[in-house]
Amino acid sequence: MNPLLIANWKMHYGPIKAGGWVRAFRRERLPKDVDIAVAVPHVSLAAARASLGRASIPSLAAQDVFWEQDGPYTGEVSASMLEEFGVQYCLVGHSERRNHLDESNDMVAKKAAALQKQGIVPVICVGETAAQFKKKETNKVLRQQTTAAIAKLDKESKIPFVFAYEPIWAIGSGKACPSQRAREAHEVIRGVIVKKMDKTIAGNTKILYGGSVDPNNISEYITTTGIDGALVGGASLDPRVFGLLCRTAVPS
Ligand code: PGA
Repeated sequence: MNPLLIANWKMHYGPIKAGGWVRAFRRERLPKDVDIAVAVPHVSLAAARASLGRASIPSLAAQDVFWEQDGPYTGEVSASMLEEFGVQYCLVGHSERRNHLDESNDMVAKKAAALQKQGIVPVICVGETAAQFKKKETNKVLRQQTTAAIAKLDKESKIPFVFAYEPIWAIGSGKACPSQRAREAHEVIRGVIVKKMDKTIAGNTKILYGGSVDPNNISEYITTTGIDGALVGGASLDPRVFGLLCRTAVPS
């Protein structure tokens, strides 16, 4: 299984800067045997796609989706609309959305299922708050979030899904989660998939770590058993830094 590295720009870079980022990143020397994607704001998808031209690296990802196909849902974007841009991955349930927009586990499940139906790989984000971490509730929270998120996915689908374990206290804080702690969290997530789906699906599901990943600590995560890649926020905003991170993750 190739490691998967996803740049998450969050609410940065409109169409003009998005095009520039993609062109600059295309000039980076990139390792083989790694899957790379960039999650851009919806309004920048067209520009990112245009700057990619025929290139397939990085893959295009979106940061959110609505669960209905079309209809009276002002402001929302459906999975079929994302597909028109050749989007291959889409984040769902990022903690910033759960937090600022009250996204519930049920909404996350519906979004993930809509993506899978459309042939887009959902990247389901889960993770505990600092308070839950202190109260040692991490595993309980991860079990709840993971169980809910996969509830509407089709076990028979050929479209895989990805999880991203992102402890909220590690996001944008510079305090990355120790890799062994992340490893335990990944085991909990995988354990739920084994129980609710099956062992093969769980074995084929990539689980990424996210939270203050940068070129200095990426190797530590990527070499940890059960960590299949990373979701990278701050360190992905500069295409050269993200290029370096990709090269460090998978030295050629
Ligand atoms: P960070 O963000 O790398 O800036 O911590 C990660 C994320 O929220 O996806």
